[in-house]
Amino acid sequence: MRLNCEKVGSGAKTIVFVHGFPFDNRMWSAQLEELSDEFTLAAPDMRGMGKSAASGASVTTMAELADDVAELLDELAIEKCTFCGLSMGGYVGWEFWKRHSDRLERFILCDSGANADASEGAAKRLATAAKMEAEGTCAFLVDGMKTNLMTSQTLEDVHSSVFSTFRKMVSENNPAGTAAVARGMAQRHDFTLELSEISVPTLVMTGVNDVLSPPAKMKAIADAMPNARFVEIPFAAHLSPMENPERGNSEIRAFMKR
Ligand code: MLT
Repeated sequence: MRLNCEKVGSGAKTIVFVHGFPFDNRMWSAQLEELSDEFTLAAPDMRGMGKSAASGASVTTMAELADDVAELLDELAIEKCTFCGLSMGGYVGWEFWKRHSDRLERFILCDSGANADASEGAAKRLATAAKMEAEGTCAFLVDGMKTNLMTSQTLEDVHSSVFSTFRKMVSENNPAGTAAVARGMAQRHDFTLELSEISVPTLVMTGVNDVLSPPAKMKAIADAMPNARFVEIPFAAHLSPMENPERGNSEIRAFMKR
């Protein structure tokens, strides 16, 4: 799969940013802008999302997305990277560790989880996937998701572009490609019992107000890993790198120096 990818900077260390669901690489614009003075940064659109073509399959697994990232590194002639994934991007990150650990220098897990879906959650995803295909759009998710993803301050801030970027990413996404990824998330592997084996230096970050990946759940992930540090991002919910990029970026810089 050839992925659409934004690449900036020329530092010796590379960070690959993998977006959440149902977003695209525009969610990382503040990271690409502010961290490119120090690092090489690559932010792909996952297959079937953003500007990357769908494969045509009805299911896209997290393992396939991880393999796509490894192929992208080959194409960019990058041997090793720090993998930074938000939510769904984090699910891809666990698979990247399992399948391509020789290429993983560090891991940054933002607002995510290590568990698989329970049967009720998986069924809900399949229904959402069917609705995207039937309606030929992902736009209905804008209203369905917004209060779970951003703080009320973010939603009410007329000067902030966070909500408008969120709306564009969701409503412009390819319904068939996005539905395939939703089905892939519904059957993802549970990494909870493998956390103690993941010894790569890891930064676990989450928004203080994230109701989908609350601080207690994210701290438990960091505590179960041998080499992980946990930080809470203030004034932020599930989209913490977008809602509070100043704090998120300074945590990333500090972590990359450790
Ligand atoms: C995300 O932001 O990627 C989603 O919340 C992931 C999910 O639906 O589990």
